[in-house]
Amino acid sequence: MISHHMSVVFLYTIHMSSTLPSLLDQIEKNAFAAIKSTETLAALDEKRIEYLGTHGKLAKISGQLPAIAKEERPQVGKRLNQVKQAIEAILDKAKTRLVEQKTAKSAWIDVTAPGKRPTIGHLHPQTIVLGEIISIFTSLGYQVADGVEIESDYYNFEALNIPKDHPARDTQQTFYLSGTDLILRTQLSGMQVRIMERIKPPMRVIIPGKVYRYEQVDASHGFEFWQLEGMLIDKGVRITDLFGTIDYVLRKLFGDETTIRFATTNFPFVEPGVDTYIRCTICKGKGCSFCKQTGWSEIMPAGMVHPKVLEYGHVDSKIWNGFAFCIGLSRVVVLKHQLEDLRVLTDPDMRILEQF
Ligand code: DAH
Repeated sequence: MISHHMSVVFLYTIHMSSTLPSLLDQIEKNAFAAIKSTETLAALDEKRIEYLGTHGKLAKISGQLPAIAKEERPQVGKRLNQVKQAIEAILDKAKTRLVEQKTAKSAWIDVTAPGKRPTIGHLHPQTIVLGEIISIFTSLGYQVADGVEIESDYYNFEALNIPKDHPARDTQQTFYLSGTDLILRTQLSGMQVRIMERIKPPMRVIIPGKVYRYEQVDASHGFEFWQLEGMLIDKGVRITDLFGTIDYVLRKLFGDETTIRFATTNFPFVEPGVDTYIRCTICKGKGCSFCKQTGWSEIMPAGMVHPKVLEYGHVDSKIWNGFAFCIGLSRVVVLKHQLEDLRVLTDPDMRILEQF
């Protein structure tokens, strides 16, 4: 009985103890090979789970321990622990190797590689055009003035012969600063009276700057845009002096082949008022979205300064007269560079800006 029992146990244990230890040997061998060839930390983690995880290969073996003969268990259990520790050690080693590799790669400097050129800034296309216009006007004896962007209703409208109930206010959608009579200036013409209050005629002044209007933004309109206002006050100034000035300036800016056209129009602060159109340089007059299919683009409204405005500026209109004009600066840039869309100028996209 005993021998029978013994032989059964013997056979059984032979069977188990020869399978599990050799399985453990196999697992150890495979794990070593797999871990040694692992190239990334993420893959290494996967190996750790595959061998040492709760459902990993070693866990499966230890799940089979109760099935082996009691006497054999400590030995197999010991071997299991050895394999586990060996795999842990080799995983740690591999981890150190991979981390070192990674830092070594990023710390490595190729001294023969060509240097990277830092991006060098340059002037915005609008600033370049502004510089050109200023130099044209200073060559004609104009001074350059600067003004405030937050303006009073008085200078922006009243002193320009646009009283509170005047319909001309409707054409300039205004941003009001609540609780004050201050606004974001809608035009630079307000500088006319401000300047007359400070300088005595004769005078020639240009004022570049930003203006604001509550407008729908499209290819040719923005809610903030640049203008350049100009004013000349002297004795016996004629409208042909104004035409000559506009013609000279636009030809200097756009070249001699430029075609311009004047039309009468109404602005309360000039009499008569003039609109200057330039043949659209984008479509060459054929019609496009920028010129609203007309072939012409409005570029320089102007006129002879209204006597009332001179009086607001304490300039005697019986002695002095003059003209005023305005250049849509952003429009000049668009027309000069055939941009098709004004919005490009406020877009900080380097791929566009680098082309100027
Ligand atoms: N300030 C006007 C505007 O922004 C433009 C303008 C028209 C200015 C006629 C002038 C002028 O100096 O004479 O709509």
